[in-house]
Amino acid sequence: MTVKKILIIPDPILRKKSEPVKKVDKDIQNLMDDMLETMYSAPGIGLAAIQIGVPKRIVVMDLSKEDEKKTPFYFINPELVWKSKSKATYEEGCLSIPNQFAKIQRPEKCKINFLDYNGKEKSIEADGLLATCIQHEIDHLNGVLFIDYLSKLKKNMIMKKLMKEQKEIDRIVV
Ligand code: NI
Repeated sequence: MTVKKILIIPDPILRKKSEPVKKVDKDIQNLMDDMLETMYSAPGIGLAAIQIGVPKRIVVMDLSKEDEKKTPFYFINPELVWKSKSKATYEEGCLSIPNQFAKIQRPEKCKINFLDYNGKEKSIEADGLLATCIQHEIDHLNGVLFIDYLSKLKKNMIMKKLMKEQKEIDRIVV
């Protein structure tokens, strides 16, 4: 397993639409292993393949708390087939938008069809953190980021803050 580099905005690759996986083989499983390793080391609770530059519809996730046993989830070709009318709000962040957070409202519950690590068809009904997280990750597969739900003003503010921070980091490195 290898820790990969996570792409950061405004990298244009993050805006690409990812392609469905045709066959779940060893290469795909290796990719998912790398994604999980990368996510754990970041650390984060979810990662889409596009965030390490691979435009395939794959998501890994682990919502367990620090003191709990690791429980990785793998979603291949995840498809949102139902969402509730009721909404839930979480303060979201993203590994591709470091240190920036915003309150985002999404459907509270949803149903997802997907293939698991072994390519088996599965379906889950998600609510709470899982529902929000999987919707955030499916957005990645469509080139959508959480900041797209914000007003233009707020979005620009986050972009500016991020650019400034990146510049500051460079200064220290030099
Ligand atoms: Ni994200």
